[in-house]
Amino acid sequence: MSARGTSAPVVGGIWAQSPDGVIGVDGGIPWHLPEDLKFFARTTIGHPVVMGRRTWESFPERFRPLPGRANIVITSRPESIPADGERVWAVDSYDAALRLAVKLAAHPGHVTGADNDGGSVVPAPTEPVREVWVIGGPGVWREAAEHAELPLTRVLVTTVDLDVAGDTRAPALDGTWTRHEVRDWERSAKGTRFRIDEYVR
Ligand SMILES: NC(=O)c1ccc[n+]([C@@H]2O[C@H](COP(=O)([O-])OP(=O)(O)OC[C@H]3O[C@@H](n4cnc5c(N)ncnc54)[C@H](OP(=O)(O)O)[C@@H]3O)[C@@H](O)[C@H]2O)c1
Repeated sequence: MSARGTSAPVVGGIWAQSPDGVIGVDGGIPWHLPEDLKFFARTTIGHPVVMGRRTWESFPERFRPLPGRANIVITSRPESIPADGERVWAVDSYDAALRLAVKLAAHPGHVTGADNDGGSVVPAPTEPVREVWVIGGPGVWREAAEHAELPLTRVLVTTVDLDVAGDTRAPALDGTWTRHEVRDWERSAKGTRFRIDEYVR
């Protein structure tokens, strides 16, 4: 995987949607697909994950913070999140989240606090290529896609073949993105059809 020819981390997005773009309902996800949860875990474990406060709250308390990942939560009220500076951080902007994620990705285990120094997002070029995953919701993915310095360049989309009603939708991916199949249509153990595609730009 390349990162614009530098050692800046690759910033990826990952979500699961219905064929017409539904990703959420009533603060949760309108299906339970263990195969996709495994894919999500395999993809993101070992890397910082960035999320909005409602996505953080969508995880049952016993499943958060997501294990094996630095959990970075964006909220206008960071004091409302039980941040410990080890597994959970709370910051008040996407930019602060990305700066922190870049630092954590480059020095896993070495950063204990939020990076509020206002410095550049792109790390020194001698650091190894790393990954940062933006895990939702839609406003956070949009901000990530539009980030001037280190935008999203990769999105993994699981399409779950269910006709569900919802109140939250995935952002549209325009013609600047190229799709590659990761897994063609298959059936989960419980019979739900799903596929996984990667979009890059
Ligand atoms: N299917 C999937 O793959 C998937 C993935 C993720 C989420 N979801 C679903 O999507 C829904 C949650 O998405 P959502 O769009 O409602 O919420 P969200 O993006 O997770 O969280 C929104 C909140 O994040 C904070 N926030 C976001 N950007 C900010 C910024 N730039 N500055 C300060 N604070 C910022 C604000 O928190 P405060 O209000 O605290 O200020 C805002 O209210 C749930 O239903 C969840 O299950 C589905």
